[in-house]
Amino acid sequence: TGMPLVIAIDGPAASGKGTLAKRLADHYGLPHLDTGLLYRAVAMALLDAGLSLEDSAAAARAAQALDAGKLDDPRLRDRAMGEAASRVSSVPEVRAGLLAWQRRFAADPQGAVLDGRDIGTVVCPGASVKLFITASSEERARRRHRELVGRGESATFATILADIEARDARDASRSAAPLRMADDAIRLDTTELDADAAFAEARGIVEQSRGDAD
Ligand code: CDP
Ligand code: CDP
Repeated sequence: TGMPLVIAIDGPAASGKGTLAKRLADHYGLPHLDTGLLYRAVAMALLDAGLSLEDSAAAARAAQALDAGKLDDPRLRDRAMGEAASRVSSVPEVRAGLLAWQRRFAADPQGAVLDGRDIGTVVCPGASVKLFITASSEERARRRHRELVGRGESATFATILADIEARDARDASRSAAPLRMADDAIRLDTTELDADAAFAEARGIVEQSRGDAD
């Protein structure tokens, strides 16, 4: 059909949604937005300005003023930034401030791939395909640990596992756009799948739903 392909990918921390989103975007020639980076950028703006993460008014202003040109700052990937992002992301005005931006991205006439926590539920409820990526918390902690050690951050596996479980609980229990699978999403458990196998599965799901739409 002539409808642009919009792929919504959600899931908890280190489930592999970003890696998968990027590969699907490359494969289909679509622009990709890692929406976690937007929340990380809001948190970084507060921290750099010496403001408290609890200052919701400042967080809302930072979301309004977000500079999309800065989304490739490597500091956004620091462990502390994921934590900080999770705190500011519970502020409704922050979510509202970033929503229009994400929707504009998703409205690209070419289509788009977005990954985050609320893409299938809030940002792109009409997406062509919705994937909900999961993996056991132990496997996710192993992945994140490997990644952080590779970047030279020192953190024990136990600390990262505790981080991930605390963040999942916070993301799933907040009242503004909690992490939740959309009713029409397809769940993909990657605990036993490497990135190649997860990509192959996801591509099959996308092809299937494109076939159904024709
Ligand atoms: O890569 P990882 O899953 O660790 O984190 P991320 O996707 O960069 O997201 C960091 C934090 O931003 C999450 O813990 C969420 O609280 C928040 N977030 C959100 O609330 N909504 C999104 N669409 C994306 C991220
Ligand atoms: O975006 P999210 O936080 O969900 O995870 P990610 O950054 O895509 O993936 C976390 C790490 O797990 C990366 O180093 C991936 O190479 C690795 N990984 C994966 O992405 N998918 C798998 N099925 C297995 C491992």
